[in-house]
Amino acid sequence: MKIEARFVRSAASAGDLPDDGLAEIALIGRSNVGKSSLINALVRQRLARTSGAPGKTRLVNIYRVERGSAPPFYLVDLPGYGFARGGSDDLAAVARDYFPAHRSRRALAALLLVDSRHPGLPSDIEAWRWLRTRVEGVDDISIVATKIDKLARGERIRAMRELESVLDAPVLPASAATGEGLDELWKLIERLANPNRRSSSPPPPPRDNPQAAAAPAARRPRRR
Ligand code: GTP
Ligand code: MG
Repeated sequence: MKIEARFVRSAASAGDLPDDGLAEIALIGRSNVGKSSLINALVRQRLARTSGAPGKTRLVNIYRVERGSAPPFYLVDLPGYGFARGGSDDLAAVARDYFPAHRSRRALAALLLVDSRHPGLPSDIEAWRWLRTRVEGVDDISIVATKIDKLARGERIRAMRELESVLDAPVLPASAATGEGLDELWKLIERLANPNRRSSSPPPPPRDNPQAAAAPAARRPRRR
């Protein structure tokens, strides 16, 4: 299938983020986990800069992607966390701001990338928890285990089991190096990027929070 992808811009602050309503799928994960490599593997181009040294991606890099006849969307490469800059393990402010604490009209989904060789790192568990407070629906976040090519078959099974058990969610194994798992990942991305997925979801349950009830009706409430 034909894939067209291009770099749009690097955002240093929330003001530079897209506001045209196209779906955004952000890749988030520790430095060096393989976010930029996975974007390149998905779009089959060397668009995003990768490096063996952690902390390569320091800004929010935005790519516009069109695959086949599906509507265009953005793949967003976020700076990695766990990169000890000034001793801080925190997520860079620009990555944090990417997921607004308040409701916005941006259609956000996230792929949390974890290294298949290191299941259950505290920073990944923390990122997973935090993401679920920021991304609107649990269905809008998926977890990908990267660099699966580095594990032998038996190790893969063990690592995937452990990951799914610590994160208590399904995890998709993938490799930017061999292309393994990319077809499944594309299916997932197409679902996340589909602007109709919100309107086709079941009617929301009644809100029990009066503040939430005052929010614009077009937004789906959190399901947690
Ligand atoms: P930051 O920008 O620092 O946050 O890192 P990143 O998450 O974007 O990682 P990047 O894509 O730059 O990859 C880091 C290193 O891992 C590079 O040396 C890549 O070649 C390697 N790498 C990434 N994905 C894979 C993979 O699927 N398999 C293997 N074997 N190596 C990979
Ligand atoms: Mg990167």
